[in-house]
Amino acid sequence: MPAAHRAPDAGARPDGWGALAPVYRWQEPLQRRSVTTLLRVLAPLPGERVLDVGAGTGLVCRSVPDEVRAVAAVEPSAGMLAAADLAGRAAVRADAVRLPVADGSVDVVVASWLLHVLDAGDRAAAVAEAAGVLRPGGRLGVVVPAVPRTTGQRLVRGAARRLADRRGLGAFRVPVDLPGLLTDAGLQVRHHARTGRGYLADVVVCTRAPGPRRPPAVAVSPVSPVGPAAPAPVGRA
Ligand SMILES: C[S@@+](CC[C@H](N)C(=O)[O-])C[C@H]1O[C@@H](n2cnc3c(N)ncnc32)[C@H](O)[C@@H]1O
Repeated sequence: MPAAHRAPDAGARPDGWGALAPVYRWQEPLQRRSVTTLLRVLAPLPGERVLDVGAGTGLVCRSVPDEVRAVAAVEPSAGMLAAADLAGRAAVRADAVRLPVADGSVDVVVASWLLHVLDAGDRAAAVAEAAGVLRPGGRLGVVVPAVPRTTGQRLVRGAARRLADRRGLGAFRVPVDLPGLLTDAGLQVRHHARTGRGYLADVVVCTRAPGPRRPPAVAVSPVSPVGPAAPAPVGRA
């Protein structure tokens, strides 16, 4: 990853999300359909190692089946982590562009409602970082807001963006660059769904192509890797 995209340590960015954390869980029902759709397609298996990046208040961690034990939340906001219910999952305070795990060590990376809050440079870096920590054949699952089609949807998006601007929550733009970023990172899209109950969302699952790993990153793993994982087909269930 280019040095320009190496993030400062988690905590060095402004934490607009921390102040919102106490009320964030109130709107989780509007995200639930997209998250359950994503997890149904990703279908993490017991024994697989899962990283929930930008974990927020823990909706994904709580939605992963209990028997999938090696789940870790990655979240830079101390406020979000303090307000989170992670269902007993491990938590690491870190940034999406600098994940604290070894390259090629993760079976599943989830980025739920994360990539649209990053600016374009960080989004590209975060996708590349996710691809880098996945083992060959590993899966990346993404939920992003979809381009609004109706007047009502446009009004909701506009209101969300104004709130985000006022609160310093990040870019909050529909990430229309996502397909190119996935391809550039060596990821192949296996599944795309649009969910409309709750927030209008695009749910995308991709796999990391088999092949050589990228050069080693500086990050080290504070979370011990789980043992050999069975590859899981994408698109099951
Ligand atoms: C819209 S919330 C989504 C939370 C959760 N994934 C969900 O689906 O409910 C965005 C989250 O991304 C986190 N975030 C913002 N910038 C980040 C970054 N550079 N790296 C990792 N997480 C980040 C925020 O702190 C916030 O918790």
